[in-house]
Amino acid sequence: MDHFQLRDGILHAEDVPLPAIADEVGTPVYVYSRATLARHARVFRDALSGLKDPHIAFAVKANPNLAVLRVLANEGYGADVVSGGELTRALAAGMKPEDIVFSGVGKTHAELQQGLEQEIGQFNIESEEEGYELAAIARRFGKQAACALRVNPDVDARTHEKISTGKRENKFGVPLDRATEIYTALAKEDGLDMRGIAVHIGSQLADLEPLETAFTKVGTLIGELRNVGCSVTHADLGGGLGVPYKAGEELPAPAEYGAMVARVTKGWDVRLVFEPGRVIAGNAGVLLTRVVRVKRGIERPFVVVDAAMNDLARPAMYGAWHDFEAVQPTGERTIAHIVGPICETGDTFAMDRECDALVPGDLAIFRTAGAYGATMASSYNSRGFVAEVLVDGDRHAVVADRIPADAIMDAERVPDWLEG
Ligand code: LLP
Repeated sequence: MDHFQLRDGILHAEDVPLPAIADEVGTPVYVYSRATLARHARVFRDALSGLKDPHIAFAVKANPNLAVLRVLANEGYGADVVSGGELTRALAAGMKPEDIVFSGVGKTHAELQQGLEQEIGQFNIESEEEGYELAAIARRFGKQAACALRVNPDVDARTHEKISTGKRENKFGVPLDRATEIYTALAKEDGLDMRGIAVHIGSQLADLEPLETAFTKVGTLIGELRNVGCSVTHADLGGGLGVPYKAGEELPAPAEYGAMVARVTKGWDVRLVFEPGRVIAGNAGVLLTRVVRVKRGIERPFVVVDAAMNDLARPAMYGAWHDFEAVQPTGERTIAHIVGPICETGDTFAMDRECDALVPGDLAIFRTAGAYGATMASSYNSRGFVAEVLVDGDRHAVVADRIPADAIMDAERVPDWLEG
C-alpha cells in the first residue's frame, strides 16, 4: 500500500496534490512519501519479528537521498553501503557507524580504510584478496575489522539477468566449495574478526524458492565452519524481495519472506542481518512528468513526456515496466507509446501501453520509482539531474535541488592549448 492516491480526481502524494509540486518545482521531479517509506520499514521489520534481534540495513543504492535515509534512520534502520560515497551519506543521514554494513566487489584501498576509520559494523568481504588487503590495513591501524564472507551459492534467482548476482559465473562472493578454506584462512588474520557469512542472490525476486535454496546452503556452510572450529555469530541474508510494478501484481509479502527465513534459519544461533532496498523504497516514490507533445504515429500516438531514460533508466536498461497514470484522469483511455525526448529509440518507457488519454501540458506519473530511480540518473543529452521532493502529510520539501545542465557544464574546462 502506498500514499499516492486520487482525491477528488487529482493524484496526491499523501495530502499534497501533485500539480502543486509541479508548479513549484517544475518537472520532471521525483516525489517520495515519508509515510509510505516509514510504513514499508515497519512492515518489513514486523515481518521479521519471529527472529531474535535482526539487524536491518537499508541498501542505500536503492535511494541514497539524505532525507530518505533520515526517515529510515528514524525507523531504526542501519545502512548497507557499496562505496565511500554511500558510507559518507549514511553517516551524514544519522545512521550509526556500527549499524553500517559495507558490501561491494571492488572496495578500493581508500574505501576499506574509510570504513575502518569510521568503525563501521561489518565488512562483507567478497574475495580472499580483499580480505588480506583489509587485514593489512587493519593491522596498520591497530584495529580489528568485523567481517562476513560473502558466498556465491550458485542459485538462479530467476530475475532479470543484469540484476542476478548469485550464479557461479557472476562476479560476486566466493564459490561455496572454497568458502570454508577461505574463511578459515582469513580467520587467522590478526586484523580480521571473521564473524559470519553473507549472501545476496539478486534483486526484484518474484519467488521465495531461490532465496530458500540459497539460505539453506548458507545454513549447511555455517555447520561446516563450526565443525572445523570457526566461530560464526552473524549471517547476512542480503536483500532482493521484489515489489509489484503493475497494479494488481502479486508478489511474496514480507510476512511470507519472514516466515520462510524463520523456518530456514531455525537453530542457526546467529544474529541475522538484512539488506532490503526496493521493498522499502520502490513504491514510496513516483516520477512526476509533463506531456510535451502527443505525436501522431503510424498505428499509435507517441506520448512524448519531459522525463527521459537519463532520469529513469530502468525501462531502457532492463525493459522494466512502470505503471503510467495521468495526474488528473478524465476517464478516457487510449493505447499509446510513451517516450522521452532523448535521441535514441531506447528512450522508450512503454510501447502499446493502455493508459489514460493525455494532451500536451498534462501531468502524469511513473509509479514505483522510489528505488533505483533518481540514483541511476545521468546527464545524457546534456540534461540536468531532476529535483527530488519529500512529502509528509500536508507538507513537502525539496530534498534534492534540480542540477541544471549548465551547472554540470561549469565543471568542464577547455585547456588553453586548444585555443586557436
Ligand atoms: N544487498 C546487496 C549486496 C545488493 O547488491 C543489493 C542490490 C541489495 C542488497 C538490495 O537489493 P534489493 O532489496 O533492492 O533488491 N538497478 C537495478 C537493481 C540493482 C540491485 C543491485 N543490488 C534495478 O533497477 O532493478
